[in-house]
Amino acid sequence: MSAPSDGVPERGPGTVGARITVNGEETPLAPAAPHTTTLDFLRERGLTGTKEGCAEGECGACSVLVARPGVDKPTDWVAVNACLVPAAALDGQEIVTSEGLATPGAAGGTPELHPVQEEMAVRGGSQCGYCTPGFVCSMAAEYYRPGRCAHAADGTEPDAEHGPNGFDLHALSGNLCRCTGYRPIRDAAFAVGAPADEDPLARRREQAPPGPVSTEYARDGATFLRRSSLAATLELLRERPDAVVVAGSTDWGVEVNIRSRRAGCVVAVDRLPELRELRTGPDAVEIGAALTLTEIERRLDGEVPLLAELFPQFASRLIRNGATLGGNLGTGSPIGDSPPVLLALEASVVLAGADGEREVPLAEYFTGYRQSVRRPGELIRAVRIPRPLSRVTAFHKIAKRRFDDISSVAVALALDIEDGVVRKARIGLGGVAATPIRALVAEAALEGRPWTADTAEAAARELRAAGTPMDDHRASAAYRSEMLGQSLLKLYAQTTEAVSS
Ligand SMILES: Cc1cc2nc3c(=O)[nH]c(=O)nc-3n(C[C@H](O)[C@H](O)[C@H](O)COP(=O)(O)OP(=O)(O)OC[C@H]3O[C@@H](n4cnc5c(N)ncnc54)[C@H](O)[C@@H]3O)c2cc1C
Ligand code: FES
Ligand code: FES
Repeated sequence: MSAPSDGVPERGPGTVGARITVNGEETPLAPAAPHTTTLDFLRERGLTGTKEGCAEGECGACSVLVARPGVDKPTDWVAVNACLVPAAALDGQEIVTSEGLATPGAAGGTPELHPVQEEMAVRGGSQCGYCTPGFVCSMAAEYYRPGRCAHAADGTEPDAEHGPNGFDLHALSGNLCRCTGYRPIRDAAFAVGAPADEDPLARRREQAPPGPVSTEYARDGATFLRRSSLAATLELLRERPDAVVVAGSTDWGVEVNIRSRRAGCVVAVDRLPELRELRTGPDAVEIGAALTLTEIERRLDGEVPLLAELFPQFASRLIRNGATLGGNLGTGSPIGDSPPVLLALEASVVLAGADGEREVPLAEYFTGYRQSVRRPGELIRAVRIPRPLSRVTAFHKIAKRRFDDISSVAVALALDIEDGVVRKARIGLGGVAATPIRALVAEAALEGRPWTADTAEAAARELRAAGTPMDDHRASAAYRSEMLGQSLLKLYAQTTEAVSS
């Protein structure tokens, strides 16, 4: 067991201390296995409101609330997919399930429904009810979002995606309902008011969430480990080169559930303070690898416009509440959505190992299919985006659905245009090669040339020839190539429309 550091409480080894506060009650983790999901952990303890629909983060039937460091208040209630998060990853943490939202009735009396449950009931938002606990938890997270009522009060007009109460429908983008239809569910979401002053979960936001604890949970020959500092984690990774590193577990959880992968040793990095810093300076924006996409989205609040375009197109709110940039780069997937954007932003990856840190341009990071220059035992500590940022940017994710889908192909464009001439062009592509790539030939076809239809068309031709796209069940190679060129032409049309209007 490592020595206490950073003021983070340490836990004794073994399974005895590991516990989660569930609906206000401390619940021991044992006898759950280290790979047991939070969903199974809850259901095995009789909390069967939390449902399994898909076990791969697609349906939201398993949504629960976790108390996390807040963006505008000390604590945010964050909805996550319980089917993906190992219960051991929540050791020392506090969660609320659909059962915990209602207020228990006096001695055997009927519990008093939570306002979101009440609205779902009276507006016909539930038929078979299978999806309802998950919807209710996602809805409750948005109900308690500190900025929601401010958004409603500042005179912002409601639009198709926001209610008059400031409710952001994207909060429900990870929840599927097979039978009710979404209109009554949306009606319920748009009808909830502001939390009452005495609401216990609203009051809970004013205190800090539980800090990370150091976990050493071993059972059935497998171990789940968490250290409280980066140095201790890197030392551990040196000792355990076999360990699987997890952050939000939105990729790893699918491997465990769907592909039955098991690890002898899992090391969690998602609460490491050194991986959760966000610095915005005059020369660069540095984003901690273990910040969730939701945290980055809310904390940057549009400061990096290309990232602001990426986030709503990345999975669902439930997934973004867990998914990290470190995890997206850590998978090395050629169809991950952040690499094209980060390539266009000329980002670099800060790698931390037991012997020190090094910074690698993202353009040199990927070396082959799911391979990178990251050495065994190294962690991604942060992603660094240099300033100044290009002013003309776009991210086009081509997928079969508008939200919560995997890209067939993704294009990120960042152009500096001065006096009608393209001074600099950076284009990141995903889904057209074994790794995310820069479209260097197309960039060269733009740089130094006037930003005209002819230049855009010539560069679009080079873009169509970029990479080696494949035919698969998502799209044909020809379609993928065509979409690359089309993305640049679309950006050209948008910029010239903006100038002429
Ligand atoms: C329903 C669903 C929808 C999805 N939609 C999208 C989408 O639209 N776009 C997209 O790009 N992805 C998508 N994903 C994939 C996934 O959410 C992302 O890849 C996410 O960013 C992974 O982050 P994580 O923290 O959950 O990673 P984890 O699952 O915790 O880890 C993933 C991998 O990264 C490694 N890793 C994690 N952190 C670090 C670190 N700091 N240093 C080194 N290695 C590290 C781990 O060892 C592991 O190999 C989706 C997944 C699901 C289940
Ligand atoms: S069970 Fe479908 S998202 Fe978890
Ligand atoms: S109410 Fe039946 S799936 Fe939603």
